[in-house]
Amino acid sequence: MTDDHTVYNVNRDYEWNYHHVPCAEVHGNPDIAPIPGNWTYAGLPVASPLAMSAGPLLNSRWIAYYAKLGFDVLTYKTVRRCKRDSYPTPNLVPVATGELKQAHTEIECSDHMDHSWAVSFGMPSREPVVWQEDVTRARESLRSGQLLSVSVVATPEPSDNLHDIAEDYASCAKGAFASGADVVEVNFSCPNVATRDGMLYAQPEASLEILKRVRDSIQDRPLLVKLGYISNPELARHWVELAEGWAQALVMVNCIGTKVKTREGDPLFDGEPRGIAGQAICSAVKDQVRLFRSIIKERASSLRIIAVGGISSLQDVHDHLETGAEAVQIATAAMLDPLWAIRVRREWNQP
Ligand SMILES: Cc1cc2nc3c(=O)[nH]c(=O)nc-3n(C[C@H](O)[C@H](O)[C@H](O)COP(=O)(O)O)c2cc1C
Repeated sequence: MTDDHTVYNVNRDYEWNYHHVPCAEVHGNPDIAPIPGNWTYAGLPVASPLAMSAGPLLNSRWIAYYAKLGFDVLTYKTVRRCKRDSYPTPNLVPVATGELKQAHTEIECSDHMDHSWAVSFGMPSREPVVWQEDVTRARESLRSGQLLSVSVVATPEPSDNLHDIAEDYASCAKGAFASGADVVEVNFSCPNVATRDGMLYAQPEASLEILKRVRDSIQDRPLLVKLGYISNPELARHWVELAEGWAQALVMVNCIGTKVKTREGDPLFDGEPRGIAGQAICSAVKDQVRLFRSIIKERASSLRIIAVGGISSLQDVHDHLETGAEAVQIATAAMLDPLWAIRVRREWNQP
């Protein structure tokens, strides 16, 4: 794959991309057309429903770049209580697949990018003293009407129990708010990490204990919970019931986890699953948002949904907002086209 039209250089590793940040000025002075309406994010007023999800924004310089290109919520890539290196390259591998509707199938990689890829970073992080100072810089770079969200995850030791994991999430969330975050997103759903912190969304009882501890440490600040792929209505109901007292919104879907093989049939990533992002998951995400919204409506719950996964057109944005999502988050489409939000705004305003 070439990197002709991506600003994130997929042929380089995470460290290289951390230090090589594009400059918004190369795009001239683009017109950021307003999106009419009263928008909120986790209940906070915001200028538009267009958010960048956790991932492409590696640090404050990446945040300042996309904040000038039409996104009003910027999510700082997931941080931890300690330094963690990225998985080795390749971190982003294009895949050849139609719509993915279920997890744990096996798909083939592709030699060209057709809007979907396997994501393999393992949630790298700087140490807290570094990311906290940088979160402060990121917040300072935003304009009025824009919000900074920080994604956090725990880093359990093999001997840690649920109480330790909850403390870990709570201290990261507290540190993010103390550094200037408007919103914190707890990541319960990284399909690239086969540990308890990666798959918490499938364990609602454990998640509830963590949410209670996080809520206690951040008082009434806005909290989002990022979930993985859920098609089981019972699990969806369980999540709505448990989250409504503790979080402002559920963010769905992180990615859909599958194994990936080469075109010759050999396993990639040591045969471990990786999260698939991009258009291949668009339809599954729409189904999941509809499922959760129907449960929320039935319960007359105030819990909000933020949609993420495969959103690539104005129609996708409208579809999610019509279903009742509070806002939408974008990763892949904005990486492939940094001017994505500017184009969507223009189209939105066309008669
Ligand atoms: C380059 C990249 C890095 C990502 N890193 C994270 C991360 O650190 N934390 C997280 O919660 N999700 C991460 N994700 C998942 C995205 O936030 C998003 O949920 C997923 O890519 C689906 O959205 P999309 O189809 O618009 O890409 C990452 C995705 C990409 C493409």
